[in-house]
Amino acid sequence: MAALSGRAAAALLRRGPPPGLAPGPRRHHYKKKWATTAPRIPVTRLALHHFDTTYSLQLRDLWPSVRASLLCEQKYGALLNNFSPVDHVTQELELLNATDFISQAHKEAQQLQQGTSPPLRASISSNIKCYTFPRGDITRFRPARPDVLGLLDYYLMDAASLLPVLALNVQPDDSVLDLCAAPGGKTLALLQTGVCGHLAANDISISRTKRLYQVLQSYVPKEIREAVSVTSCDGRDWEQLKGSTFHKVLVDVPCTTDRHSVMEEENNIFHKKRTKERQMLPMLQLQLLMAGILATKPGGEVVYSTCSLSPLQNEHVIERAVEIAETQFSISVHVEDLSHFRILFQDTFCFFSDCQLGELVLPNLTANFGPMYFCKLRRIE
Ligand SMILES: C[S@@+](CC[C@H](N)C(=O)[O-])C[C@H]1O[C@@H](n2cnc3c(N)ncnc32)[C@H](O)[C@@H]1O
Repeated sequence: MAALSGRAAAALLRRGPPPGLAPGPRRHHYKKKWATTAPRIPVTRLALHHFDTTYSLQLRDLWPSVRASLLCEQKYGALLNNFSPVDHVTQELELLNATDFISQAHKEAQQLQQGTSPPLRASISSNIKCYTFPRGDITRFRPARPDVLGLLDYYLMDAASLLPVLALNVQPDDSVLDLCAAPGGKTLALLQTGVCGHLAANDISISRTKRLYQVLQSYVPKEIREAVSVTSCDGRDWEQLKGSTFHKVLVDVPCTTDRHSVMEEENNIFHKKRTKERQMLPMLQLQLLMAGILATKPGGEVVYSTCSLSPLQNEHVIERAVEIAETQFSISVHVEDLSHFRILFQDTFCFFSDCQLGELVLPNLTANFGPMYFCKLRRIE
């Protein structure tokens, strides 16, 4: 509608509006004061509504149970600190009926292997130890305790977060880059393998990088932590800064952190003022994954991970990255099969069976870990 000239508007005010445009009787006319009186919808509810619309289509009849699990207390795993004496801790945890789900998977792989294919055992690192309580057991771990040298005995984390690290399958003397590393759970797990040749841990956020330093300080002896190169660069620029020098690269990107989004108001990406940032996430994730691929030596491997169920942030990012690597950089990238993880870790986690490229751990009331998506890419020589 054309704007009214000043004089016409003044005349309208004096005379009142033309018939048909008049407001109702004065007693029904009030001005809404949105800022003070409209009830504020919690951001967690907005997130849940968004997930109800999108994930019910993706997960179909699985969604109600995944939804309920996201809204319940999550389960933790205790990543043992191999830099601290662990024997009394393992005894204590085993008395509580917790088991190391990784060594458990080793044992099962050995049994399975008597009749099946070889990649099962070779694909998991044996030095990482993480204790979890059995399915349906919701016992909580006590807080970590310091040893005589002041190093903490374990690190509590979502046990599914270890799967991307296990998928990276670090080998002796590999140079490893953790591109989005803070606050440092996966960096610590990489160090627990005890075989990283060189480890670079980067995160764009200076405040979160400080938390990474604190984790290193609390768990890792001085001579080892000082050998980790910690940087605070924009991961998207990594290749220009450091070139293609790594055997293994972990790209654990920022995402909608689905569990956090439905449970915590603070720092929630579904907040109205963060809409643009949320919409741009798949682009940022793609750029970070591309930087990860470019940082990898020919023949090297990249693991991409998120803690979201969103196909737009998971499989679509992988598809686009493989395509862009080929068309814009003439780099062939192969998506590695990780389906044996589903067999190895079926006692501990619930996996979604319909992923095409990677693997997705679904939260479940009896095993409330995840969500955790991970996919492994190999840069062809
Ligand atoms: C999912 S968190 C990483 C969690 C971490 N890997 C761990 O296991 O503790 C994603 C991280 O990406 C970082 N990030 C966001 N944008 C980035 C960028 N452009 N370059 C590097 N890091 C970035 C965030 O600061 C955040 O710490």
